[in-house]
Order: sequence, then structure tokens, then C-alpha cells
Amino acid sequence: MKIAVIGGGPAGLYAAILLKKQRPAADITVYERNRADDTFGFGVVFSDATLDNFEKYDPPSYRRITQEFAYWDDIAVHFRGTVHRVGGNGFCGCSRRTLLLILQERARELGVTLKFETDIADAARFEGADLVILADGINSRFREKHIGHFQPEVDLRSNMFAWMGSTRPLDAFTFIFQETEWGPFIAHAYQYEAGRSTWIFETDPETFKRAGLTGLDERQSADRMAEIFGWFLDGHPLLINRSMWRNFPMIRNRRWVKDNMVLLGDAKATAHFSIGSGTKLAMEDAIALADAMQRAPDLAAALKEYEEGRREEVEKTQHAADVSLVWFEHVDRFWDFDPVQFAFGVMTRSKAITYDNLTLRAPGFVAEVDKAFARQVQARGLDVDVKKPVVPMFQPLKLREMRLENRSVVSPMCMYSANEGVPTDFHLVHYGSRAIGGAGLIFTEMTCVGRDARITPGCAGLWNDEQEAAWRRIVDFVHANSAAKFALQLGHAGRKGATKLMWDGMDRPLEEGGWDVISASPIPYFPDSQVPREMDRAAMEAVKAAFVASAERGERCGFDMLELHCAHGYLLASFISPLTNNRSDAYGGSLENRLRFPLEVFGAMRAAWPAHKPMSVRISATDWAEGGITGDDAVQIARAFAEVGVDLVDVSTGQTVRDAQPIYGRMFQTPFSDQVRNEARVATMCVGNITTSDQVNTILAAGRADLVALGRPHLVDPSFTMKAAAWYGADGMFCPPQYLPGKEQIFRNSVRDRQDFEDLKIKAKPKTRAELREEARKPLAAE
Ligand SMILES: Cc1cc2nc3c(=O)[nH]c(=O)nc-3n(C[C@H](O)[C@H](O)[C@H](O)COP(=O)(O)OP(=O)(O)OC[C@H]3O[C@@H](n4cnc5c(N)ncnc54)[C@H](O)[C@@H]3O)c2cc1C
Ligand SMILES: Cc1cc2nc3c(=O)[nH]c(=O)nc-3n(C[C@H](O)[C@H](O)[C@H](O)COP(=O)(O)O)c2cc1C
Repeated sequence: MKIAVIGGGPAGLYAAILLKKQRPAADITVYERNRADDTFGFGVVFSDATLDNFEKYDPPSYRRITQEFAYWDDIAVHFRGTVHRVGGNGFCGCSRRTLLLILQERARELGVTLKFETDIADAARFEGADLVILADGINSRFREKHIGHFQPEVDLRSNMFAWMGSTRPLDAFTFIFQETEWGPFIAHAYQYEAGRSTWIFETDPETFKRAGLTGLDERQSADRMAEIFGWFLDGHPLLINRSMWRNFPMIRNRRWVKDNMVLLGDAKATAHFSIGSGTKLAMEDAIALADAMQRAPDLAAALKEYEEGRREEVEKTQHAADVSLVWFEHVDRFWDFDPVQFAFGVMTRSKAITYDNLTLRAPGFVAEVDKAFARQVQARGLDVDVKKPVVPMFQPLKLREMRLENRSVVSPMCMYSANEGVPTDFHLVHYGSRAIGGAGLIFTEMTCVGRDARITPGCAGLWNDEQEAAWRRIVDFVHANSAAKFALQLGHAGRKGATKLMWDGMDRPLEEGGWDVISASPIPYFPDSQVPREMDRAAMEAVKAAFVASAERGERCGFDMLELHCAHGYLLASFISPLTNNRSDAYGGSLENRLRFPLEVFGAMRAAWPAHKPMSVRISATDWAEGGITGDDAVQIARAFAEVGVDLVDVSTGQTVRDAQPIYGRMFQTPFSDQVRNEARVATMCVGNITTSDQVNTILAAGRADLVALGRPHLVDPSFTMKAAAWYGADGMFCPPQYLPGKEQIFRNSVRDRQDFEDLKIKAKPKTRAELREEARKPLAAE
């Protein structure tokens, strides 16, 4: 078999090594345009898990690599004169040049032919090869030659970065967030061998310009960085080696294989440097290709298996890198945070590290995070213990005169079980049990402001006396038997009205017994849905009056808070999204116009709702669809509602149009809450695939939301919050006397359960290489 490898970077060399080991008779040649020892870049990083993989696949190169490594366990975050260190991270660094020399040496040993200073310009050079590995890096010439086939997507990110080096020793992966007169600069730095460290500098394009970096050559810009970070460099110089400032390209390819050609490494997919995974991905691609070649019956099947089997893992890493790079792009959002909360945000930015996880690794750090959180609560006038605070989830929150005992919320959820809009005993038990279950705040389902405002025939309403009496009974029960506050969510279904119960076909039009529907514009939801009537001024006045009347009934029922539903494609949302609003009057066109009617309704309700009680609005912060609402729009929307008196923005997403492309995942809507909260500076509630109290604490402690709502988890577990309180030892929880023995038992048992769990976790965690090395260095105890 003849294999041609274009590119002698980590991907190409490692693939050549693994394939040659597998097929000693194969004729494998690596073509590299640079000289053998001619490498740009400074250090590379690998996690312990990646090194385990290297050990398994090629022990000789693994041993040589690890002999050359620098190990560290801590991440250090420098911000506004403070430094926070978190251990247990298990990373290693090595010089890129050394890595390449080791891989070259190993490849040669095995009989791979290495041709340096050989720039492959066209396919003629590898004619006759059975397999062509395109490992030619970020600007892959051959990927671009077959652009129509591979279909690369190159997302050039906004921040500028440059890769430099230094002789400054470092004992941790170090992030420095540096305020300057021009704006924020970030350094990502780590040591990779004795006396050498990598320094990646990053800043936003405006700060870059203001700092006068445009047009400076490498040396001049390194001098500018040395001035900014001089206090830390401690007299050590900054080294350059093709250290040009550039924008990071996030590269993805629709296809990875063309005939006998296969993309590997950066040519195929990049991952932002902030998660240190570029070289790891490249070498793990080589492993995946070698595995596929070993298993599959022929070459075509092997390449197919490589592409299909590897894609998910690569996309997962890219997603984590994406989330991380977005955090760094928006670092200014957190610039006024308490430094310890800021550091917590750095650590938890890409979801892999959480509150509980950090509590195990760095309990002192998390204790400081809790104290900072409690101090913020205290600063807002609430009397809380700041010396031994409860975890963020169990810190109170005040909105106007309403005090919530904790930050856990039952999200609004339609039960489709009302009779002509009247809530039943099902609702009494449903809301009653969830209130007793300990959530600080519970929401009603979307409660409709008129018969024709309903989504389905089973939806609850609040437009007549019978409904008002039924709701009052439920509110009274909640107030009498729990500490929960109760929020009423009012809505109008708009074009999604007159549809079937959830379990009969969500959003599908009723076959009989329906009613006429209205919307911002006459656009049906499904092609076969009813075409809604475009609302005229009279219809708007009628709808506004209906919302106000229901709000007044809500006040008579005794609800503590009122939410206006402007999300999920229902009537008011249909005005806000350009995908559902094509009006040509003052209520269509610009975002300002599209917001006009929802704001009028909100304003009228605010005037009718008691001033001491808070109001919130639920929005879809993105439509997940081309041309629809985006996170930036959501910030504008939140600001507009804040101006008319909203106290909390309930940040949901989507459900506007049926062909949306949401990106689901754990806590998938939280970045929108983060953006709205920290750009528009309004309190937010986040929701969406949040399933554990660990996630709740992670979100709150990082300042990404003020309240956290859980929907589906509460459907199966009304006592989600009480159980979490027991786990975290938040024993101030209210419990009705009938249930006290149960509360006492779970609080007692949880102490032991938690200790057992933590012991198990600690025992199960393998020692990091840094810890092992540290242990080996320690003198043995006297025997
Ligand atoms: C300026 C810069 C500095 C970097 N520094 C670091 C660092 O310090 N640490 C780190 O972890 N990562 C660094 N990276 C990222 C890292 O290099 C990649 O993520 C990783 O090396 C990907 O490996 P690869 O083999 O796919 O590509 P590369 O390492 O880019 O290797 C591709 C190779 O193909 C060769 N090549 C390209 N076209 C041809 C052709 N037509 N004919 C012959 N040869 C060709 C190139 O010369 C190159 O050697 C840096 C990237 C850049 C752009
Ligand atoms: C059965 C069900 C009914 C829902 N009804 C409503 C509703 O009436 N109003 C609303 O704003 N959201 C409604 N939602 C959305 C939830 O409030 C929540 O935003 C969503 O389920 C995501 O959160 P989760 O992952 O915690 O379930 C409903 C969700 C479910 C599962």
C-alpha cells in the first residue's frame, strides 16, 4: 500500500507512525514544505486523558514525549490585583518543536520516508498513492482545491490574538486579565519546558486598534505586550516566532473524505486555543484513522468509518471550544464582577467544570465564591449570613417587595387539563405539591386571557369569575402550606391557538371545535394551520383590555407576581419576531416598531398591577432561524421592557417557526440569559435542560442568571428543591408540620450520603501526572 501524507505537523506525522506500525510493508511518505527543525509556535498542551491515549497507541513516542514535559495541576486566574488558584486540572506542556522532532525520529525509525522542503502544489505528486492524507493545516491547499466537495465553513472570529513565548517560569496554567487605558487584554500562558513558556495574547478588535497595534511589526507588538504585562513578566523577555496578530478561524467541513483523500487535523476542524485542544485533536484524528484502517475490510469502508465514527467527538470538542471562545470575546460583560466570581466564571465557562466539581477540588475557592455571592445579596438589603453562607441556590432574592426564599423556580408548564379554562383539582394537587416541594417561586402555566386566547381546549384561563374563584383556592393553598411565592403567567396563543392537546399532536390544528385565530400577520404556523387574521387597532385594544382584566383578577386571586408571555411564537411574540411579523404599519418593520404592541400591553398591565408586586416578561431570546431574533436583539428587547418597569426577564428561546434549528444540550439557553443579564443589566431567570442542583449553583455563582427555572425535572419530582436543600445542608427551608419527620430524616441522612459520595468521587479519581510526579519527588517517610 502506498500512502502519501501532505503536511508534517502533529496530525500527519502521527498518522504516518500509527499506519506504518500497523502495515510495516506500506510505502509511506510525509511531504513537508518546511525544514525538519523549522517550526513556528512555542508549546503544546495535552490533558492526562490524551496522554493515556498516546501511551496506548505508541509507547515509544509517548515515553519520549513525557520525558520532555512540564506538568501542572493548577489554573491561576489573575484579575484586578487578585489571584485565584484551582487545583486538580492535570495538564502537561511540551515544546512544539520537540514534539515534532520526536515524532519525526519515531517515524524514521519505523521506516517512514520524510521529505522536507517539499511544497506539494498539485495532485500529480501523489498520483499512484492508494491513500492521501491531507494534514496540511489550517489553510489546507487541497481542501480549498476541492472546496465544492469538502464544503468548509470558516468562521473568522472577531478577537485578535498572537502566539508568543517567554522565559518566565510558570507553575500553573495562567490567565491574566489586564485592564489597560485602551481596554481589556488577556494572556493565556503556560510553561512547556524548563525556562520556556507559551504566551497567547488576546484582545477585542477595538482595543487592538486603540492600543496602536495595527501596523506594528512582530517585535514592536511584543514590546507593547511586554509593557502591558511587564509587572508579571518580571524582567523576562517576550520571544517571537511568526507571532503575527490574527483572527481565529473556526473551521468545520461538511465532508472529510473525497475518493482516496482524507482530511486530518486543523485542515479538517479547528478548536480555539483557550481550551488547548488543537494538537490533541490533530493527533487523536490520526488515532481514529488508524483504528478505522485496522478494523474496516477495505480503504473506502475505513475512510467512511473514520468520518462517521470521529465526527461526534470532534464536534463536541469544537462546541466546548466555541462556548469558551465566546466567553473570552465577551469578557467585558464580567469586568465589574467581584474577582472571585469572575474567576469562577473563567473556570466554569465551557460547562465541563461545575460548582460541585470545584467544591471537591478547591473547597476553599468555592467557599470564597459563596461568600462573595452572599455579600451581594446582603448589599441588596437582605439579612443573610456572609461568614458561613448557604450555597447560591438557597440565597434569597427580592424583587420589589416580594422576597423569594431561594433561587429555584418551577417553570410555567401547561397541563392541558382545565375545563373551559377553569383549573381543576389536578391543578390544586399539581401546584400545591410543587409549592410544598420547596421551590422559592412557582409559575402557573400560560393562563389565557380569553376563550379565544387559548392554545388548546384544555388550557387554563382567567377571564371569568368561576376561573378566578378556582385560582384563588389554589393560591390560598400555596400560601397557607408553603413558603413559595406564586407567579401568574398570562398569555394569548395567537396563531398557535385552536390546536390539539399536547398528547394528541402539539401545535396541530383542531379538526373540530376550533375558533378563529389572530396574529401580527396572516402567516399560518404549519402550511395546513388556520390562517390567522391580522390584528387591527380594535383587536389590539380588545386584547390589551383582556390582559389588564386578567391581571386585575390575578391580583384578586392573591398572586405575588405577574408574567407577560412574549415568547414561543404566541400572540405577543408574533409581533416581536420579524419571521412572523410583516406588517407595514407602526407595529411592523424595525424592532422598535415590532415591540410597540407588547410594550403597550405590558405598560397597561403594569399600571393595573400593584406597584409593590414585581412583573416579568418571558421572551424567546433567539428564533434559532435565519433572519429571526438573535441574542443581540434579545438585549434590546430586555432593555425596552426594563424601561417600562420589568423586574425580571425570563429568558427562553425558539418555538417561533416550525423549521427552526435549535442547538440543544445541557443548559443550552443559559448563554442567552448570561448575555441579557450582563449586557442589558436586568435580572434574569434562565431555563432549559437544567436538571441538577449542581447546574443551578454553577449558573448562579457565575452570575449568568438571578433565578433558575426547571420545567420537566419538576414534573417528575415536586420535591427537587427540598432534596437539594438537604444535600447542601440549607436547613432554613420551610416545611409544613405534617411533613417535618420526612424533612428531618432527609437532612440527617444527606450529611452521610454526601460524605460517602464525595469520598467515592475522590477515590475514583485517578491521580494526575502532576500529582504522581509530586509524590515521587517527596522523600519517603522514615521506615
Ligand atoms: C502561528 C501559529 C502558532 C501556533 N502555535 C501553537 C502552539 O504554540 N501551541 C499549540 O498547541 N498549538 C499551536 N498552534 C496550533 C497548532 O499548530 C494546530 O492546532 C496543530 O498543530 C494542528 O496540527 P496539524 O498537523 O493539523 O497542522 P499543522 O501543525 O499546521 O501542520 C501542517 C503542516 O503542513 C505543512 N504544509 C501545509 N501545506 C503544505 C503543502 N502544500 N505541502 C507540504 N507541506 C505543507 C505545513 O508547513 C505544516 O507543517 C499554532 C498555530 C499557528 C497558526
Ligand atoms: C408540558 C410542558 C408545558 C409547557 N408549557 C409552558 C407554558 O405554559 N408557558 C411557558 O412559558 N412555557 C411552557 N413550557 C416551557 C417550560 O416552561 C420550559 O421553558 C421548558 O420546558 C424548558 O425547560 P426544562 O428543560 O426544564 O423542561 C412548557 C414545557 C413543558 C414540558
